[in-house]
Amino acid sequence: MKNFLNISDVSSQVLREILEEAKIRKSKRKDLNKSATDFDQPFSGKSMIMIFEKPSTRTRISFDIAAKQLGGSSIILNPDVIHYGKGDESIKDTAKVLSEYADIIMMRTSLHKNLAEFAKYSDIPVINGLSEQSHPCQIMSDILTFEEIKGDIKDKTITWLGDGNNNMSNSFIEASAKFGFKLNIGCPDKYKPNKNIIAWAKKNKANVTITKNPNEAVKNADCVMTDKWVSMNDRVDKKKKKQILKSYQVNKKIMKLAKSDAIFMHCLPVGRGEEATDEIVDGKQSVVWTQALNRVHTQKSIINWCLK
Ligand code: CP
Ligand code: NVA
Repeated sequence: MKNFLNISDVSSQVLREILEEAKIRKSKRKDLNKSATDFDQPFSGKSMIMIFEKPSTRTRISFDIAAKQLGGSSIILNPDVIHYGKGDESIKDTAKVLSEYADIIMMRTSLHKNLAEFAKYSDIPVINGLSEQSHPCQIMSDILTFEEIKGDIKDKTITWLGDGNNNMSNSFIEASAKFGFKLNIGCPDKYKPNKNIIAWAKKNKANVTITKNPNEAVKNADCVMTDKWVSMNDRVDKKKKKQILKSYQVNKKIMKLAKSDAIFMHCLPVGRGEEATDEIVDGKQSVVWTQALNRVHTQKSIINWCLK
């Protein structure tokens, strides 16, 4: 049985196959309505259960649409309405019960250990729809988006600015090793990637550079990306953290230092006026809405791979 919990768990070859399937499926849907099913309906007669321990707009909707386009259905659960969320049924027992009802689970958890515990006891595949440690589905969508515009991501330069120690930056570091792109991380010392992920990057020969200097980080970038300065579950003094990250804002001035045809990415939701200015989010170089759309396409091939 296959789970999709972290980019680091999956081979480069499989990640590439997932991306290529997403490209093919997307191109074959060009003339179809948004909720029309794919030609082959591989998820027909099947269902996905989704559990959200914390808020979501894109992940919730894009997985639901993905299940429908593949010919199947989805059930969305909020922990407040199930026993597991209230703590009166263990994660193990919840995993066992839900395995009897559906074909695949997608979870967004506050703690990665809840996701790992669920996957350990689940008899059906589990997909990570974001934990505090990683966000692998978003990264797959971002790579699809990048390649649609710029071609093969191998040997390209991606710059990450801001919080270098969150779920998105962790998954991007893993992706840089798997897809062979150069990743420049511009962040203050206090928000540098953690020791474990740096050790993983070294061991796996990821081409990652970390600098405190935001201007240095964006030089020669084919893509500049950032994320919320304060993530969900980030138990910090928000005002203080935002103050420390201020000089890592993506604005016109910093974007000018990247390649002239560089694109801007953000997984959304965005803190407008904080990590990125309106003119960048809404500007010509921004591809943020396509990133959101491509969640549907990449997640369809992730579901298919898990069930193969
Ligand atoms: N990018 C992303 O995962 O968005 P949501 O939190 O809305 O799902
Ligand atoms: N790092 C952000 C990503 C949101 C999709 C968070 O965890 O809140």
